[in-house]
Amino acid sequence: MILNPFIETTDLSFSYRTGSSNAVRALKKVNMQVKLGELLAITGQNGSGKSTLARHFNGLLTAREGKVLVDGLSAADKENTAAIRRLVGMVFQNPDNQLVSSIVEEDIAFGPENLGLPPAEIRERVDWALDTLNISNLRRESPNQLSEGQKQLVAIAGVLAMKPRCIVLDEPTAHLDPRGRREVIENVLCLNRIEGITIVLLTHFMSEVVNCDRMIVMDKGEVKMEGAPCDVFRQGEKILNLGLDFPVAARLSAGLRRKGFPLPDHIIHIEELIDSLCQLK
Ligand SMILES: Nc1ncnc2c1ncn2[C@@H]1O[C@H](COP(=O)(O)OP(=O)(O)OP(=O)(O)O)[C@@H](O)[C@H]1O
Ligand SMILES: [Mg+2]
Repeated sequence: MILNPFIETTDLSFSYRTGSSNAVRALKKVNMQVKLGELLAITGQNGSGKSTLARHFNGLLTAREGKVLVDGLSAADKENTAAIRRLVGMVFQNPDNQLVSSIVEEDIAFGPENLGLPPAEIRERVDWALDTLNISNLRRESPNQLSEGQKQLVAIAGVLAMKPRCIVLDEPTAHLDPRGRREVIENVLCLNRIEGITIVLLTHFMSEVVNCDRMIVMDKGEVKMEGAPCDVFRQGEKILNLGLDFPVAARLSAGLRRKGFPLPDHIIHIEELIDSLCQLK
């Protein structure tokens, strides 16, 4: 069940290279929330400000204009940075930048070791993270001999072992083939649905967005659309103007509607499309 705001930004603005002639205003008065327990997608064209926004969620960037609260803690207060980093884990596009050790299980233990936890608890967390992501078979492997998809799962396991309340994934499947993408996304869904971890997924893939509870569309540093994917994608014109694509099922049903099939305009899943077509018969 979706509850209170876990992360909240108020009039958050951010510029790169401030003071110089080529300053970039990457965020403009962004007001948004990540609710506790939800699976939130953030999408938008290249350069719309997704990563800049997400980097404020765990203190990688500090708000200079506006406010960011994480579980009620002000991110502007340096004393809260360590606590915020424990609450919110980050996973990036390229797992190579996140893997530090030559053996998978040591890599996953790295974060909990830095928390100064007792060895027995570290072992328990590593086992749990490996098991949760179904990669226990990889524990003694060397990360650089794994496939890109497996590496990304190891990177996620490393974050999971820190037991964060929320995980922010910045285009985690951008470098993966369809199978790797499916594996990563299925695991991310399980982390949310089974482990109850709040997830923020930054992505360009509408096939990933449709699985989320809510979506935010960014454009030129602003939040332009927000809502349940089935409600956002029915606003056809707006979606196109923001440079987004439609999910396959939405595209197919729009095509069929044009040919006279009386299908509803909120279809985003193939299963829904099949059901609706069957009902027509
Ligand atoms: N380190 C930086 N220095 C200067 N400008 C930057 C920097 N990082 C991002 N920008 C600029 O800030 C704006 C927002 O970039 P950001 O990376 O947040 O967008 P994004 O939505 O994540 O894009 P993408 O889909 O390509 O990952 C862009 O205009 C980008 O060029
Ligand atoms: Mg980005």
